[in-house]
Amino acid sequence: MYYVNPYIRDCVRVFPEQGRYGQMRYDMNENPEGLPEEFVDSVRKEITPEFLSTYPEPDPFLEKYAAFVGMKKENLCATNGSDMAIRFIMETFSREGGEIVTVAPSFEMYWVNCSMLGRRHVPVQLNGDFTVPVEKLLEAVTEKADIVAILNPNNPVGKGYSLEDGRRLAKKARECGAILLVDEAYHYFQKESLLSLTGEFDNVVVLRTFSKLFSLASLRLGVAVSNPELITYLKKSTPSFEVNAVALLFGERILEHPDMIEELIRKAAEGKAYAVEALREKGYEVFPEAGNFIFVRPRKEISCLKEELHRRGVLVKSYGNDLLKDYLRISTGSRQAMERYIEEFLKAEEA
Ligand SMILES: Cc1ncc(COP(=O)(O)O)c(C=O)c1O
Repeated sequence: MYYVNPYIRDCVRVFPEQGRYGQMRYDMNENPEGLPEEFVDSVRKEITPEFLSTYPEPDPFLEKYAAFVGMKKENLCATNGSDMAIRFIMETFSREGGEIVTVAPSFEMYWVNCSMLGRRHVPVQLNGDFTVPVEKLLEAVTEKADIVAILNPNNPVGKGYSLEDGRRLAKKARECGAILLVDEAYHYFQKESLLSLTGEFDNVVVLRTFSKLFSLASLRLGVAVSNPELITYLKKSTPSFEVNAVALLFGERILEHPDMIEELIRKAAEGKAYAVEALREKGYEVFPEAGNFIFVRPRKEISCLKEELHRRGVLVKSYGNDLLKDYLRISTGSRQAMERYIEEFLKAEEA
């Protein structure tokens, strides 16, 4: 009989739904519409046979991203989506049985990676009003912790962290010999970033992704930002060619278009504000969270409504946990994307 790593064998996975192309996708916090077509066409022209036959070189992208965040490329490690950065960070900076402290509910890959790697997940429940329990989080960080992972802002619910709370968490983590991982997948949709903590503390790493605002979920591009020493360790844990050349090319070209980035941010804010107001006007309870998503409490029973929406080609996310079981999470996009959503949602409520 062959050997199977018991942690992998016993890990419970639910893989993402297939057949989402052509559907109205409000379920995974992608940009429902994507980047401007003319931009995509112009970058596509650069993909030649030589380009495809050459192993990827991340440096030009890293130089541009470094300038974008005001750092050096030695502060950065590009990964195959921030998903892989989470894995590499856990493999590099935590030991078997070591504690990984997170808020709960949180992005599922934190507990999935704990389960796959045999780490001990320490979940700290969000407050009933969806605020982040910073004091409880601080208490949960002990000498047994290897990593404290926070999402700024939290997903699925919860706002971001103030710089001062970030500092307190980084300090406590350092006292306990732990890394503070700050996942900023959704930071473009709010004001504050904790990126500056990577310069203040030697144990902080910040993750960014190109899957959300930058609309490249298909290409898998994430960036870990930290001090050069921590990044050197992280890089050692990656394969030689971790990120593909098409992702690096699109990432580089996006960063060369600050006007397009501004427009993406503007459109996202406009669409979200419209959706919140339109749903509230219809008497719905809405929680506009800090990321590119909102929570709505429908009148219809959740699973029936979800099925009805699905029948209409509209994908949304629901949750089984007590805190969120009565709500739908809806990814937000441009005003046009949200008009389309609300029209279908109201019809589905009445069907
Ligand atoms: C908080 C958070 N972190 C990380 C990710 C992973 O993003 P990706 O692997 O596409 O970069 C997601 C995806 O939804 C997320 O919500």
